Amino acid sequence: MSSHLIELNSGESIPAIGLGTWRSKPHEVARAVEIALEKGYRHIDCAWAYGNEKEVGEGLRASGVPRSEVFITSKLWGTYHRRVEECLNETLANLGTDYLDLYLIHWPVPMNPNGNDPMIPKRPDGSRDLDESWDIRDTWKGMEEVLKKGKVKSIGLSNCSEMMVEKILTTANVIPAANQLELHLYNPQHKLVAYLKSKGIVPQAYSPLGSMNSPLLQDEVATNIANTRQLKTSDVLLGYLLRKDIVILPKSTNPARIEANLIGALEAYKRLTAEDMVVLDNVAANGKQKRFIMPPWGIDLGFENWG
Ligand SMILES: NC(=O)c1ccc[n+]([C@@H]2O[C@H](COP(=O)([O-])OP(=O)(O)OC[C@H]3O[C@@H](n4cnc5c(N)ncnc54)[C@H](OP(=O)(O)O)[C@@H]3O)[C@@H](O)[C@H]2O)c1
Repeated sequence: MSSHLIELNSGESIPAIGLGTWRSKPHEVARAVEIALEKGYRHIDCAWAYGNEKEVGEGLRASGVPRSEVFITSKLWGTYHRRVEECLNETLANLGTDYLDLYLIHWPVPMNPNGNDPMIPKRPDGSRDLDESWDIRDTWKGMEEVLKKGKVKSIGLSNCSEMMVEKILTTANVIPAANQLELHLYNPQHKLVAYLKSKGIVPQAYSPLGSMNSPLLQDEVATNIANTRQLKTSDVLLGYLLRKDIVILPKSTNPARIEANLIGALEAYKRLTAEDMVVLDNVAANGKQKRFIMPPWGIDLGFENWG
């Protein structure tokens, strides 16, 4: 079931379907992870900022699946850009493991490590308290150091536009293995995905179903294709990305949906035709372009269609 793998430039392989854990409540996420692993997932997407890594670790252990068989990703939070290893150590302790398979910079936005909040420090005017004197390229050096120490097997980025990747590459010794982005039917970012592939950086799709209360699940084009191919709309949304060699990270804490997403994505991967793919590729450009995840960072990240 977990055999669909994508190669990373680090020499490691990443299972193309991972369970998302953002907004999975602490009392639900352990069971979700346990069920996912029982049903065949071998990849869990985590982050320090999700505040639930302890419970994710409980689920991993409860499943009985050996650590070596599970690909675990986590992410460095913005208030820790000057302290990469400290954030990583907290994540490792919470998950109860001594290494990660992939460690990502969550957002290319360093925040004040000594501000009024450890998560999202704010200035008196309510704007986000950014650490403007810190260069993201130095964060990448910190990532390279934990890689060298063997605490993580691969390092990568998240929420980085082409402009940001180019900036990081000016001083990088290690090419990022992956870049985790908002990628789905309504925000396919075709240009950015092609750019990443040209650099050997694997694109990962977050919010592949359109996140909470998603209009994508009712999209007419995807639903028509789903009906024709005897699939669910959610299967088409996931299979569409898989067919583009994009890693998908659907989140669910519902046992039936956890299983259905894995089986359905793989079925859609097989059943979608080249014509279906062309139709799906054009949905956003035909008036449905939409992003769902746009935190008010207060700086230009270099993305198209932001705002
Ligand atoms: N790097 C980043 O900045 C970043 C940002 C956002 C997300 N992520 C990662 O990507 C993961 C996925 O993104 P996401 O959580 O925003 O959204 P998503 O996976 O696109 O959608 C999750 C939502 O869809 C529901 N759902 C799941 N399967 C379904 C199905 N088959 N049919 C109908 N509804 C379904 C879930 O509810 P139930 O749980 O009730 O099923 C939940 O409300 C996150 O969990 C996180 O790991 C990363």
